[in-house]
Amino acid sequence: MCGIVAVIGSRDAAPLLLEGLKRLEYRGYDSAGIATLELSSKAATGVLTCKKANGKLANLMNLVEQESAPGHLGIGHTRWATHGKPEERNAHPHMDSSGGLAVVQNGIIENHITLRKGLQEKGIQFVSETDTEVIPHLISQELNLLKSNGQEASGSLLLEAVRRVSLKLKGAYALAVIWKETPEALVVARRQAPLLIGLGEGEFLCASDTPALAGVTRTILPMEDGETALLTPLGIELYDHRGQRQQRSPSLLHGQEDVVSKRHFRHFMLKEIYEQSETARLWVDRHLPLGLPEQAPVAFPFEDSFYEGIERIQILACGTSRHAALVGAYLLEQFAGIPTSVFYASEFRYAAPPLAPNLLTIGVTQSGETADTLAALSMEAQRREAYGDPAFISRQLGITNRPESSIARQVPNIINICAGIEVGVAATKTFLGQLLAFYGLALSFASRRNSCSTKEIISLTNELRALPNQLSVLIDKHDQMASTLAPLFLDTQNVIFLGRGINYPIALEGALKLKEISYIHAEGYPAGEMKHGPIALLERRVPVIAIATPGVVFEKVLSNVQEAKARDAQLIGVIPKEFAKEVFDIVMPIPEVSEWISPLLSVVPMQLLSYHIAANRGLDIDQPRNLAKSVTVE
Ligand code: F6R
Repeated sequence: MCGIVAVIGSRDAAPLLLEGLKRLEYRGYDSAGIATLELSSKAATGVLTCKKANGKLANLMNLVEQESAPGHLGIGHTRWATHGKPEERNAHPHMDSSGGLAVVQNGIIENHITLRKGLQEKGIQFVSETDTEVIPHLISQELNLLKSNGQEASGSLLLEAVRRVSLKLKGAYALAVIWKETPEALVVARRQAPLLIGLGEGEFLCASDTPALAGVTRTILPMEDGETALLTPLGIELYDHRGQRQQRSPSLLHGQEDVVSKRHFRHFMLKEIYEQSETARLWVDRHLPLGLPEQAPVAFPFEDSFYEGIERIQILACGTSRHAALVGAYLLEQFAGIPTSVFYASEFRYAAPPLAPNLLTIGVTQSGETADTLAALSMEAQRREAYGDPAFISRQLGITNRPESSIARQVPNIINICAGIEVGVAATKTFLGQLLAFYGLALSFASRRNSCSTKEIISLTNELRALPNQLSVLIDKHDQMASTLAPLFLDTQNVIFLGRGINYPIALEGALKLKEISYIHAEGYPAGEMKHGPIALLERRVPVIAIATPGVVFEKVLSNVQEAKARDAQLIGVIPKEFAKEVFDIVMPIPEVSEWISPLLSVVPMQLLSYHIAANRGLDIDQPRNLAKSVTVE
């Protein structure tokens, strides 16, 4: 995780770095720091200033305001701690022993222990516990070596030193380096961690993600894996991992990537929950325009050849994206008739099932940067390629909210959920967008495979068309209701979420949302599993939130819920208003819709209840402890 920003240009670097870091704070907020370089009128070398502060970015902003960090060149970092506690000494930038070279890094250097030992044996003293600190020392050594061979300090020399060091580093990382002997050069590099260059007017910015470029430029040059770049006031020199110069044209950022404002909402999360009706509206407009033929009920950007011959599907994802995948698998199996399995990407990497033929692999990741998901997809593609049998050829699809991210460069087919930037660390509108992508896929496959009748397909598409308005009303209603209910949870320590069938993943998602932002222990179970163990947890102080929508398992869920009621648990039902309300102590009503579509609605009360419980406890909802939005480390 972590966010990095770097800038070289004609304006003061510090305000640009701090503004960029503010927009990347969702990537980590344990500590932050910047280093700037100012040209010195008295000496050939520049003056390097480094400021770091533990905790949120606001602490660093205060420090820089009081003590200033002059210069037109600089690097910045917001940290999500991996190696070493969140303390000022572990905050980036990290320096070499002379204090003349500074580095920020996002990722993990897997061989840092060996590298550190080697450096310590040469007398280098470390000041932090981080994996990153080896990098400035290694670069410094390479520079000394190059200079001892008669080479002059220059941007190219710094670039060469970084390139040599990157050959020694194992792991995934993006980094930015400045050196006081080259006060007009910035060197950046990436390997399996995101980094893009923004081309502004008279300045270049480099960042882990597009929001950092907001207000500066929409012209971007995403760096490819293994590339290193030298940025100077004269331009950009881009090199691949072999040191070959690369020429690529920049592209324009589309959509709302730079809109990062809470508007009138108290938190980004609440704003993003409200934006779900718009996410659905855009999706319906784009994929379900009226007048589509019955045999092709969804407008998806894939040719027929994409669907041909697929006999099974496997989905790789983490966290909330995995919950969307579970709903997707239900739809693909039960509606479209394709056997589908879902894997935790982190588990799949080290225990993939035996290869099956004619299989589509789907990676789901809103950020498009989750290291486990990307690595699992890449591992799967490689083993299929190595197998060499055409029936086992790698066929991959990515579902993401970030079409400029790594997954879009890694897999050949992408569904862009177009939910707009999500800043709140807890995923909400991107979850809905991912669900909708699966509804589109299930409809596309179902119509091609005749797995259900035209009537069923038309009925589902009509229900999807009604979704944006239903969501809009539902969100308003549950915002109010959840804020009234939240005080009841003031002393709650454990909550159980129950669901079955297509709503079981929503129970998991409800529990995850509550855990993430309120720190209340919560678990989601398939309602039928309660009696096999979890029922032992039930008592008066443990609320049970059950999703029950008319359909295959409606009566079953109600019976399971009765078992909880007999153990004195407080029962909250997410159910259509007129159904079984006598069973529940509290009802959070949702519209009466088909079971197929119910997850798109039942998730809303879950999100809003978690939000209001956390808000009522006065917690930092958009930046919950220990979490980050984009998990770019294994
Ligand atoms: C939960 C949440 C995480 C992410 C997970 C995967 O609110 O946001 O569980 O879903 O880290 O992230 P992506 O979707 O970016 O791969």
